Amino acid sequence: MPLVGTTEMFKKAYDGHYAIGAFNVNNMEIIQGIMAAAKEKQSPVILQASEGARNYAGQEYIVGLIKIALQDYPEIPTALHLDHGSSFEICKACIDGGFTSVMYDGSKHSFEENVRITKEVVAYAHDKGVVVEAELGRLAGVEDLVSVDTKDAIFTDPDQAAEFVELTGCDSLAIAIGTSHGAYKYSGEPYLDYERLEKVGQLLPDYPIVLHGASTVIPEFVEKCNQFGGKVLGAKGVPEEMLRKAARMAVCKINIDTDIRLAMTAAIRESIFKNPENFDPRGYLKPAREAVRQMVMHKIEAVVGSANTI
Ligand code: G3H
Ligand code: 13P
Ligand code: ZN
Repeated sequence: MPLVGTTEMFKKAYDGHYAIGAFNVNNMEIIQGIMAAAKEKQSPVILQASEGARNYAGQEYIVGLIKIALQDYPEIPTALHLDHGSSFEICKACIDGGFTSVMYDGSKHSFEENVRITKEVVAYAHDKGVVVEAELGRLAGVEDLVSVDTKDAIFTDPDQAAEFVELTGCDSLAIAIGTSHGAYKYSGEPYLDYERLEKVGQLLPDYPIVLHGASTVIPEFVEKCNQFGGKVLGAKGVPEEMLRKAARMAVCKINIDTDIRLAMTAAIRESIFKNPENFDPRGYLKPAREAVRQMVMHKIEAVVGSANTI
């Protein structure tokens, strides 16, 4: 099967009250680990490349590696998605380069400017059969003290979300309800605004919502990093059962990068520490690839709920 868009997989996910995992890819081992997990769990999957990934590996390498992976896994519905595209030009380059889905992230702009550029991306993408994810609202970082007073200013306004989708024609929308990127998501108790998500779901029926910043920062992996010489202190993520609840609602795409980074780094650190005489990169990249596979299998079961849906 060639790369697919996300329309079909989101529709099935919405109706089945689960989500699709969108995992960030930067190199061959990550792609191989994710695809092996998707096969094991018989799950559709979204492989997403950020601008940073394009700069690191090169867009052609990423597309090439994924096309070769598809030869090994022809039965797995797989989308290739641009994560956080910051301009029309980058979205265009990915669309022209074979991506089946792009995100235009105009969340830092005014509502009007975000609408204007998202519309341009949608027009170009739809003409080529590519779907578009957009973003509205600000993902609060640990420094953004989200309280009852400030959350209305930071989180996505449901009425604006409905208006934004109507005006732009975007195919899915990332909203801010309490998640944030990276390993340091909360200084206090984890919090997701389900009421807000519910309201968005009511105003946009049958419409796929996207959750960014959805890593859990599983203590076992942080501890392993630190046990073998790392220094990852005070990290905290979103508990998996909270994400699973969102996936039963209107959330159809759940973005996970940090948990894969932690799993890989823990495996590499452990391998290097326990085999000091080894200097063959395959010696530590093999356990790293296996750690990706295990982590993605775990996410498919515990968070997104997409196992056995092919
Ligand atoms: O949301 C961002 C993703 O985790 C990708 O991160 O820009 O460092 O590749 P990156
Ligand atoms: P995490 O940093 O929580 O893994 O989020 C990843 C993400 O949202 C990629 O777009
Ligand atoms: Zn993101």
